[in-house]
Formats: sequence, structure tokens, C-alpha cells
Amino acid sequence: MTEDNEAGAFFSKYLRTCDIPLHPYKVEPFTMVIFGGSGDLSRRKLLPALFHLYREGELSAGFSVLGFGRHRIDDEQYRAMIKDAVSEFAEEPFDERRWDEFSTHIFFLSGDYGADEAYERLFERLLSISIPGAEDAGKVIYYMAVPPETTPVVVPKLKEHNLCKGSFSAKIIVEKPFGHDFPSAVALNRILTDAFDEKQIYRIDHYLGKETVQNIIFFRFSNAVFERLWNSRYVDNVQITVAEDIGIEQRGAFYEETGVVRDIVQNHIMQLIALVAMEPPIGFEADFIRDEKVKVLRAVRPMDNEYIDRFTVRGQYGPGALRGGNVAGYREEMNVAPDSSTPTFFAGRFFIANWRWAGVPFYVRTGKRLARHVTEICVQFKQPPLKLFGRTCDALEPNVLTLTVQPDEKISLRFGVKYPDEANKIYPVDMRFSYQDTFRTKTHPAYERLLIDCMKGDLTLFVRLDGVEAMWEVLDPLIARWESIPSRDFPNYRAGSWGPAEAELLLQRDERCWLTE
Ligand SMILES: NC(=O)c1ccc[n+]([C@@H]2O[C@H](COP(=O)([O-])OP(=O)(O)OC[C@H]3O[C@@H](n4cnc5c(N)ncnc54)[C@H](OP(=O)(O)O)[C@@H]3O)[C@@H](O)[C@H]2O)c1
Repeated sequence: MTEDNEAGAFFSKYLRTCDIPLHPYKVEPFTMVIFGGSGDLSRRKLLPALFHLYREGELSAGFSVLGFGRHRIDDEQYRAMIKDAVSEFAEEPFDERRWDEFSTHIFFLSGDYGADEAYERLFERLLSISIPGAEDAGKVIYYMAVPPETTPVVVPKLKEHNLCKGSFSAKIIVEKPFGHDFPSAVALNRILTDAFDEKQIYRIDHYLGKETVQNIIFFRFSNAVFERLWNSRYVDNVQITVAEDIGIEQRGAFYEETGVVRDIVQNHIMQLIALVAMEPPIGFEADFIRDEKVKVLRAVRPMDNEYIDRFTVRGQYGPGALRGGNVAGYREEMNVAPDSSTPTFFAGRFFIANWRWAGVPFYVRTGKRLARHVTEICVQFKQPPLKLFGRTCDALEPNVLTLTVQPDEKISLRFGVKYPDEANKIYPVDMRFSYQDTFRTKTHPAYERLLIDCMKGDLTLFVRLDGVEAMWEVLDPLIARWESIPSRDFPNYRAGSWGPAEAELLLQRDERCWLTE
């Protein structure tokens, strides 16, 4: 081993990531209290995820799930409700025998979120069902599967009734949205950190639980060949497309309040930018990674009104055709105002004002009812400095590294080769890696992965307080500008297209084009 290698291998006190555990990790006994335990998220995602983890043997024998809500139902009625949901929403055939075992771990506590007596009963119930772990206190995970306005009601009550620290070893999982702008995010964070330490708080963005999103870090920092090129010297531009072909489904009321920036840009897209642009962390511990992500978010160049008007595009879908059928426009959807000015599409150009990325545009677009369902990050590299091959080189396609997050999880690299038998002709080809083809295994769905991480106490994939606030700081000016001047041309793109024409112009003005199509 050379001196350099020795330094890399031994001189960091944090790098232990290559240690392979000898025994599979077993989670300790825990009780998960789900506020909103009978709601949509609980029925469609959380309980099916927990049942699947149970079937895979990933939960400890001493786990329990305690649904909490205003329904006047008992344990048996709750179990019947969840059984229906799991058989409808689980991805695999329902297993009656395993369900009967699993259901004995499920309970329900009915109460009002603001009523003290409900928390007194919660305390008693937890004492009776939670099993002490290694540290002799029952581990409790509170899951806020309730509308955002309910969390500030519940959390102070948990504190008042001594349910956060002391009697139980507690964690809290908070669903996005984390506020609806910077001041409300700060206020929510204050409520949370008044009751819990930051290390007890798991702000969940299920997008970060996707294997390919996590792979961005692994890919970047385990392949010297790319990392050396990952900067403004070699990268021409970065493009992020988060395209959905679905509309707003039955969530008209929610979407009217939210719009595309709060729904996707403020969280998923900002997180993708952070993962693509961050510096190498000094170790693989949660806070080292979160430190680097926050540094990127803080370096995003602030946008003033003039910049917003020139370099961002908003859109709203009108009627169109998708997957062989006609679909309604946004304003025709249920619970949407017929003159709604809520944007369903965003495109924009960001800059990251730091040493690595100065001058490299990050083009971002996202929207509903776009041509296809795809999330992709394209890193386009600069052209070689000299045109060696005469005129044919004018049309040389750039090298592009594409990380496809969904629906197919893959990575491809585009490069040029000599076209057979032609004198100076260069032909672009792709080198491809596909998760499915290589590993032939299904990865944990995002919610399962994140639930397991929370049970283990691993905060890496959860968003920290300063990360949430930094994301809002980037986007508050944009939201304020758009809300102050309602759009006059909505609907301005056809369902089934790639969004408004201005989104194409945004790149054409920079002599570039969108690479995902
Ligand atoms: N659904 C999803 O796929 C999804 C995905 C990502 C994030 N989320 C987030 O997860 C959270 C829950 O979403 P959800 O879709 O499950 O919501 P939901 O079905 O509308 O509500 C969940 C539960 O909260 C309680 N609740 C509803 N309105 C309330 C009110 N005004 N005051 C007090 N309690 C109320 C109800 O339980 P009781 O009647 O039993 O009290 C309801 O079953 C939200 O923050 C949402 O943004 C959801």
C-alpha cells in the first residue's frame, strides 16, 4: 500500500462505511403511534409498508402500531379497516395467515388531537403496550400522518404530557409539506424543537428513500473518473427533469393551495440539486452529508423579480391527449376554480455561486400531465477544446451522463465513436447500466426504506431544520412574485406535451436544448 492509500484508508476517524455487518441488523422493540392512522397516507402507504417489512422479517417481535384519530372505533374495527387497505394497496398477494399474526400488533386509540385527556390515555396505553428496549425505555415513534395544520396542535400536547423525553425514548416523523413558506417553516421548526431535540426529528420526503436518489452519492463519490470532471471546468450544464404524466387526481383542493413549486420544486428538486452539486462529505454520517447539502442550498444564487421574469417559466395544463385517451385540463378538474391561476408546470435556470459550480447553469423543469413519467438528471459535458475531425465535428454530440431515477432505474453515458467505413464520421452511442438487469432484485420501496432508517436511528435521508429553511429561502421570492402577478395566459400547455413553449426558449436562448425527451 502506498503512503497516499494509507492516508485515505486510515487517517479519517469517521470513515467506517466499508464495514460489513456480520449479523443482519435487528430493530429494537418499538411502538409506532400514527396520528391520522385511518387517513389516506396510512392506508395506502404506511400500513402496507409495515406489513411487508413484517413479512420480510425486518421488524422485531416486540413492535406495535397504535393508530390515533377522531374515529370512534376500537382495536378490532381498526384492524378490519387496515386489513381492507393492505389487501387493496399492498404490491404482493395478501397472506391471510401472516396478516392474522401481524394484526395482533395493531391497536387504535380514539381521541381529539387538542384534548388533554386523549394524551393522558395515550400515556397509559403506551405504558401498557410498549416493550422496553436495551436502554430500558419504550421506544416510541410518532408519525404525523395528519394535515399540516394538525402537527402544531399535537406536538405541544406531546410535550405537555411528558411523551417526548424521559418516560419514553421518542422520535417523531413529520410529513412534507414542512411549512408553506420560509416564516411558516421557521415557526413549525420552533414548535418541533421546543418539544424534541433535532436528533429526534425525522422530516420525511419519500423521494429521498428511492434507491436511485441515494445512488447519486454512491455513484459520485466512488468513481474517481467522474468526480474529477464534476465541476465548472468540464460540465457545460446540468438538467433535472421531474415529469409526471398524471394530473392532480382527486387532490384538487390540496393542489389549488399548493401548486407545483411547493409540491415538487421546494423539496424533491432542491434535494436533487443538493445531491448532484454537494462537496464530498468527510464521512458517511447523517450530519456530514446534511452539512454538505445545506451548503449547496445556501449557495443557490438568489433570484430577484427581474431574474424570475426572464429565467423561470410557469405553466398550467389544458385539455389534451395522453396514453391514447383524451384528458381534461386543470381548470376542469374536481375542486379546481374555473379561472384558477395555480401553476402545474415550472421551468427555471439556477446558478450555484460556489467555487465548483460558478457559471454552470442548472436547468430544472417539472410538471403534471407531461408527455411521459420520468425523473432524470443529465450532466452535459463541455466539448473537446479542438475540432480535430473537420466539418463533421461541428455536429459532434456532447458527452452526457444521464441518471434516470424513475421509472426505469438506470445510468447511461453518451459518447462518440467512429462510424464504420466513413472517413471522419462520429456516431453517438450509449453505455448503459440498469438496476433491474444487473441486480435482478426489487429494492425496498421508499417508505419501507425510510421507516427502517428511522427505526435504526439513521437520519441521513431525512431533511434537517436548516435544510428545510434553506430550500424555502431559495423559493420564497419566486412564489411571492408569481402570486403577486397572476398569469394571463393559463392554460398555456397541452396535456401530453413537454410544457409551454417558453420552457424550450429558456434553453434555446442559451443555445442549448432539453436532453430528456
Ligand atoms: N396521501 C399521500 O399519499 C401523501 C403523500 C405524501 C405526503 N402526505 C402527507 O401526509 C399527511 C397526511 O396525508 P393524508 O393524505 O393521509 O391526509 P388525510 O387523509 O386528509 O388526513 C389524515 C387523517 O388526518 C385526520 N384529519 C383530517 N383532517 C383533519 C383536520 N382538519 N383536523 C384534524 N385531523 C384531521 C383524519 O383522521 P381522523 O378523522 O381519524 O382524526 C384523517 O384520516 C399530510 O401532511 C400530507 O401532505 C400524504
